[in-house]
Amino acid sequence: MLIYMPNSPEAVIAMLACARIGAIHSVVFGGFAAPELASRIDDAQPKLVLAASCGIEGANVLPYQPILQDAFEIAHHAPSHTIYWQREQHPADLSATNDHDWDQAMESSKPADCVPVAATDPLYILYTSGTTGQPKGIVRDTGGHLVTLHWSMSGIYNCPPGEAFWAASDVGWVVGHSYICYAPLLHRNPSVIFEGKPVGTPDAGIFWSIMAKHKVRSFFTAPTAIRAIKQVDPDGELAKIADLSNLQAVYLAGERTDPDTLTWTQHLLKVPVVDHWWQTETGSAITANPIGIEEFPTKAGSSTMPMPGWDLACVDEEGEPVPAGESGAIVARLPLPPGFAPTLWNAPDRYQEAYLSRYPGNYLTGDSGFIDADGYLSVMARIDDVINVAGHRLSSSAMEEVLASHPAVAECAVIGKADALKGQIPVGFVVLKAGVSSSIEELSAELIGAVRAQIGPVAAFKQVHVLTKLPKTRSGKILRKTIREIADGEPPKVPPTIEDITVLEQVKEIFA
Ligand code: COA
Ligand code: AMP
Repeated sequence: MLIYMPNSPEAVIAMLACARIGAIHSVVFGGFAAPELASRIDDAQPKLVLAASCGIEGANVLPYQPILQDAFEIAHHAPSHTIYWQREQHPADLSATNDHDWDQAMESSKPADCVPVAATDPLYILYTSGTTGQPKGIVRDTGGHLVTLHWSMSGIYNCPPGEAFWAASDVGWVVGHSYICYAPLLHRNPSVIFEGKPVGTPDAGIFWSIMAKHKVRSFFTAPTAIRAIKQVDPDGELAKIADLSNLQAVYLAGERTDPDTLTWTQHLLKVPVVDHWWQTETGSAITANPIGIEEFPTKAGSSTMPMPGWDLACVDEEGEPVPAGESGAIVARLPLPPGFAPTLWNAPDRYQEAYLSRYPGNYLTGDSGFIDADGYLSVMARIDDVINVAGHRLSSSAMEEVLASHPAVAECAVIGKADALKGQIPVGFVVLKAGVSSSIEELSAELIGAVRAQIGPVAAFKQVHVLTKLPKTRSGKILRKTIREIADGEPPKVPPTIEDITVLEQVKEIFA
């Protein structure tokens, strides 16, 4: 069952309805464009689509039906029916015979009993970005995952049953699956669901007023959201006027919490602020501060300690652990804890290849960082082509595929440049084919439009630069890391094998 709905109680109802009857759900985030939706439809082959007629972002109404219709045109697989939750702001046209109204379907249906499933049966598929344009269908099984989530509500989130929990994420992401839907409800905590942003819907005080209204005890968001609030309300005046007396702790994930964001939040809210690290693959935190059991001292920049079942190491190229405090690829020794994705949908070989083959006996997390002498882990960067934009995991290769398909583009590269609000933003570089006559302005508008149309607005792709050549090694490897270092104002590490060092001057000029 494919679910294409905004962050709403109806989306959670749709997920739980699937779980009840033993159907596998696959929620697709609303900010993805039709081709991304189509690739998920083709891979998951859903029988039914549960959709909303639109999403609402403050004053903006985002119709979902046109995106679904375009996706159906592109996809090879055709789901047999679509059920629309009709919203008055923009109802869907239900004249086609296989489009149905959610309310009418509910009225004409009989209650269905729960269907028992095996602990190892899939609960859901959630697509995430990998190192190629084809998203990975992360499969989550049922039993181990739910046990882990239930434990985490007390062990990590310190939220006794009955107390309100709020993950200000979106059901389209793994955080939303675990901590808007399954974990709080399983642990008997009211779960707050908010279709809006930290700022602008309507203002930078909305998070605080929702917390006050629902007496939220444990609050989870992305560092980007805190940075967005801080930009608009630097002294946190809107938090000071809200009654946050029930708030016991704030949890941040999705991207590294920079020390400024950590200290600003600590000083403003005067509660523990926990940076915890996780991935779609894991479904829950790999490292965290388990304040429901024992609170470890916070170290800025670190996501604290491995959680139960995780045996982590930072290793060098040969897979040997590096000394404490030195950086390496972060790996987890097998076996992996309950809840970890048992496979990739339709791609068991890719699972082996992407996660288990690089360092046999270990899971390659795709992140790099260091473990200090006290056992605290700091996650610093990705080691692959994944970039993290506003806590959203995106593939730079997927964006490169879109740029490369433009008739004027001979070669291209996309990097994630540091950004004060979104953590990273994608920046594209293109080399044009000989004889291209369009202006740079025209071309950038087309390329930006193409990424938006092919991947979606969530990619936030807004910058593209023309180079006469891409910086490459003599063997043809594009020096994306060197470009990123220049873009971020860091001293670039230039390999001696660079093909033509003068190209770097062009990159330096762009970011001068
Ligand atoms: N449906 C349709 N479109 C969506 C969407 C959705 N569910 N979510 C985002 N988009 C669109 C937005 O409308 C925007 O489009 P635009 O280019 O036309 O403005 C684009 O995708 C980018 O959205 P967003 O990433 O939200 O950027 P923003 O500039 O509008 O807002 C922040 C900036 C910081 C407020 C926002 O990124 C944010 O709230 N970040 C926190 C992220 C988070 O909680 N992540 C969860 C990880 S745990
Ligand atoms: P996703 O699968 O979308 O949850 O994204 C997972 C990726 O986000 C991780 O591999 C990290 O690169 C990044 N990430 C998530 N949480 C943290 C964190 N607390 N610190 C650093 N990076 C993080």
